[in-house]
Amino acid sequence: MVSCILLAAGSGKRMKRKQNKVYLRIANKSLMQWCLLHMQEVKSVAEIIVVVAKGEEEKARREIDALDLTVPVTIVLGGATRQESVSNGLDAVTVKDIVLVHDSARPMAEADVFERVIEATRENEAVVPAIPVVDTIKVAQEGVVEQTLPRSVLWRVQTPQGFNYDLLVKAHEKAVKNIFVGTDDASLVEYMGKPVHLVEGDTKNVKITTPEDLVLARHYLGAEPMRIGFGYDIHRLVTDRPCILGGVSFEYELGLDGHSDADVVAHALMDALLGAAGLRDIGYYFPPTDPAYEGADSMALLASVKNLLREQGYEPYNVDITVIAEMPKVNPRIDEMKEKLVSVLGIDSRNISIKATTNEGLGAVGRREGIAAHAVVTIQEREEI
Ligand code: CTP
Ligand code: MG
Repeated sequence: MVSCILLAAGSGKRMKRKQNKVYLRIANKSLMQWCLLHMQEVKSVAEIIVVVAKGEEEKARREIDALDLTVPVTIVLGGATRQESVSNGLDAVTVKDIVLVHDSARPMAEADVFERVIEATRENEAVVPAIPVVDTIKVAQEGVVEQTLPRSVLWRVQTPQGFNYDLLVKAHEKAVKNIFVGTDDASLVEYMGKPVHLVEGDTKNVKITTPEDLVLARHYLGAEPMRIGFGYDIHRLVTDRPCILGGVSFEYELGLDGHSDADVVAHALMDALLGAAGLRDIGYYFPPTDPAYEGADSMALLASVKNLLREQGYEPYNVDITVIAEMPKVNPRIDEMKEKLVSVLGIDSRNISIKATTNEGLGAVGRREGIAAHAVVTIQEREEI
């Protein structure tokens, strides 16, 4: 039987995100979750040991619990280096037969790679999945080439790597004793003078290291493309009402009539966001018959809409709004409106456009009987938890 050690105790510095890259989401699952799901498909896997960074135990537990796995999962704390993390994982192994070590940073390793490694590890005690090198590899010092290596003997090695349990434990003991540090687990076995065998890896099994790698991962893991939404709203202009547009209060003799603060800009925007996520309209979530929404601040409603999207696994990306009003003059206050939207939606101000036009005196809006707004938005899958 097989025990899998899943490494997640790094910090993902090269990814340059706020959090450890293994918790980034692609197609609604974190890199760690993708790895767990692929492992679970492999029949001979009897246990999974997830090695996590200090302070991330709870987060890892939530990720695991959300999956309803049938294989038992144990969480252990990692160390300062990858090698130490593997060693901590080994200490927690209870199924001491074949052990696989896999990086959470490789969410595209599917069950077939795992099966190939396991199969080969039954015959040979140390096995790594590998793919041929396609570039010419040169050795250089201070910018000058010293040697060109023969490409036919070069291999790019991936994880999962498979070992006989006792062999890997001995390899780690020897490495600790001699202060040997390897960049993968097989190199510790090589250091013992034992053979390491290759099996066919998978070119899709890329290690997610820098932001560019996420583009590939999104493609391979089937992330959704951008989604587009459209929204429209119009409110009557009446006396004795405030005139609030995009969360900004305008000095004007007339104001917008409505149950809430009647902010047409916010309402068009909310409908666009809901539409992009495939949800219902604002009237459905904030019924005008509900006294709770009487005089409601539409910026607060917009924040609720953002949360609704969040629950569906989406976040706003860009917003394009057109306000149609004869009066008041909207242009001088567009920056203030944008600031409001930036603070509520948490998107970059470069991704918000608010434009204003009159209706050239035509129709109801032209007669100053009301103000209308149109909004088009794009939303994307949420990357951070
Ligand atoms: N890893 C680990 N413990 C460490 C360092 C790394 O468990 N002390 C894990 C990472 O979580 C990752 C795998 O080893 O899944 C491969 O390492 P790498 O891709 O280098 O990830 P990070 O170390 O997190 O990234 P970076 O080097 O950019 O900081
Ligand atoms: Mg690292």
